[in-house]
Amino acid sequence: MEKGYFITGIDTNVGKTWATVALMRYFKSQGKSVIGMKPVASGCSIQDGVLVNEDALLLQQNATVKLGYQHVNPYAYALPVSPHIAGKDNPVELDVIVKAFNVIKDQAQILLVEGAGGWYSPINQHQDNSDLAIALALPVLLVVAIKLGCINHAKLTYQAMNSEAVVSAGWIAVHTEPDTLNADEIVATLTRTLDMPLLGVLPYTKNPDFDGLARNYYLHSVSD
Ligand SMILES: Nc1ncnc2c1ncn2[C@@H]1O[C@H](COP(=O)(O)OP(=O)(O)OP(=O)(O)O)[C@@H](O)[C@H]1O
Ligand SMILES: [Mg+2]
Repeated sequence: MEKGYFITGIDTNVGKTWATVALMRYFKSQGKSVIGMKPVASGCSIQDGVLVNEDALLLQQNATVKLGYQHVNPYAYALPVSPHIAGKDNPVELDVIVKAFNVIKDQAQILLVEGAGGWYSPINQHQDNSDLAIALALPVLLVVAIKLGCINHAKLTYQAMNSEAVVSAGWIAVHTEPDTLNADEIVATLTRTLDMPLLGVLPYTKNPDFDGLARNYYLHSVSD
């Protein structure tokens, strides 16, 4: 692994997966090998007798290297509820995730890890996504869905990231809604407010066009 990032968001359902897949496409277009991981996922269905999650499948499909599902998504919970509730009978153990991460991490130049929910969303009864990012020792990218209320959520998350032993490597703006009022001004305000590079502004696209979204990244400003 030359570069790895932990992708968190200001909330659940804010564009983390779309932004991550677009980032995978971006790195591929740069000629890099890339893999993705979604260590903890709730809301899974059974395929060929095993629980699988849509986000994890997308990351698996978009990798340049074929990885076993278990390594992409060590914890797959059926119920679409917080992992600390969904996983009561099989709680997340960070060691298990770190082991899977270590198995795959040198199989590509770029490794992207999508978190579950937001920065302080729990992953078990006593740990949350910040503990996961710290355990993997990855710089963190923050995905912000540009909509009413996002400035508050983004500032709070940014402050929380900076209070932990992680590198805040950058943020990504995602237009998840077609008609947010003053969307450009919100992005401008966040650019002045968040003291980390803006790596891309992903436009609203009705159908997922990940190669199209990938063209909106400018990563030359990202820190390692
Ligand atoms: N660029 C975009 N254009 C239009 N809609 C988008 C875009 N990015 C995300 N969305 C919408 O937002 C939804 C949530 O995006 P996504 O699944 O990436 O969020 P997430 O943060 O990964 O969610 P989760 O917390 O469940 O993992 C998508 O299903 C899609 O409807
Ligand atoms: Mg997701």
